[in-house]
Amino acid sequence: MIRIDSVTKRYPDGTVAVDRLSLDIPDRSITVLVGPSGCGKTTTLRMINRMVEPTEGTILIDGEDSRRQPVTTLRRSMGYVIQNAGLFQHRTIADNIATVPRLLGWGKQRARDRAAELMERVGLDPSLAGRYPYQLSGGQQQRVGVARALAADPPVLLMDEPFSAVDPVVRKGLQDELLRIQDELGKTIVFVTHDIDEAIKLGTMVAVLREGGRLAQYAPPAELLSRPADGFVEDFLGADRGIRRLSFFPSAALEPATDAVIPAGATAERIAATAAPHLLVTDAEGRPLGWAAREELTGGDVGTDRLLPYGRPFVPGVDSLRTALDSAVLSPTGWAVAVDGDGRVTGVVSQQTIGEAIRAAHTAAHTAGGAGTAGRAEDEKVAG
Ligand SMILES: Nc1ncnc2c1ncn2[C@@H]1O[C@H](COP(=O)(O)OP(=O)(O)O)[C@@H](O)[C@H]1O
Ligand SMILES: [Mg+2]
Repeated sequence: MIRIDSVTKRYPDGTVAVDRLSLDIPDRSITVLVGPSGCGKTTTLRMINRMVEPTEGTILIDGEDSRRQPVTTLRRSMGYVIQNAGLFQHRTIADNIATVPRLLGWGKQRARDRAAELMERVGLDPSLAGRYPYQLSGGQQQRVGVARALAADPPVLLMDEPFSAVDPVVRKGLQDELLRIQDELGKTIVFVTHDIDEAIKLGTMVAVLREGGRLAQYAPPAELLSRPADGFVEDFLGADRGIRRLSFFPSAALEPATDAVIPAGATAERIAATAAPHLLVTDAEGRPLGWAAREELTGGDVGTDRLLPYGRPFVPGVDSLRTALDSAVLSPTGWAVAVDGDGRVTGVVSQQTIGEAIRAAHTAAHTAGGAGTAGRAEDEKVAG
């Protein structure tokens, strides 16, 4: 564990960048430092690998004062990734990635094999190995930066706004990749960002810093959203906090109704047997085709040309209540379409049912929450 113990950084010009900061950073998880520009995030990160020395306080690595080990040993145990990747422009991608292994005296072939392995790990085509950084897109360069930081297999990864300079779609890909890598490798990651959505998506724990390098709140994302410590944190989280919090509630308890689902070509009797005003029509495999008003179908012939779009289905138990609600809101009938992992319809769910599930989830979280700790159900992240 990395323990930041009452650390202050005062730069020579008198600027207090970090003010008596204390944080316990757990092993094998992603801890995010988030806050507005100038609040001391980079300074904090750099004190961990001693690129900046604290003015006061101590940083302990597994219980030992970080000043007690040689700075080269310390840095070797910590990969470092920055915005714009910071690659060596005159070296190939493979050589960039192999930088630290080569410094450690690895042979050429071993370093090259390691580079190839890491390119695959971070989702880069091996054919890019011989290229130079300028021949890669921003997102690809960022992946190289991550691969380079992982090259000597350090237990700790320090990342300073690594994805801030790429467009939102590429950024999402990089975030997903990082979560996957973390799952596979179990690194201790300290991740700096000014983007609260990125913090909530990636963080197991999130430290919100305010100007002057003071800690505003340190909590799991679901707890930040449900119990912001003060007005500053609440403002920083933004307006749609309630909706975003639904990402942490599972949709497993929703029970899709099946009586409003009919296959194309259903008989008049089958249609007459359902009371629902709108019917979801599926193809022969059970995949959704669209919505039809019941009275339009009473002739028995389900024409697929006049169907209303069914929107974006959700997968109960996999997707969150936020995705389920979005699905209902996007549906022209107000009913969400539930599908299984193969995209086959398992039923439909009304906005009202989703609303009831949201209220039940809030009540459960509140009861389980107790004083100051997040409810268990909220701690688990749910996809979507
Ligand atoms: N080398 C330095 N000398 C003086 N002040 C600095 C130095 N580096 C950063 N600062 C100041 O310290 C504060 C925190 O900076 P920084 O840690 O870079 O914040 P962040 O990464 O959150 O934007 C800012 O006010 C910044 O101007
Ligand atoms: Mg910074």
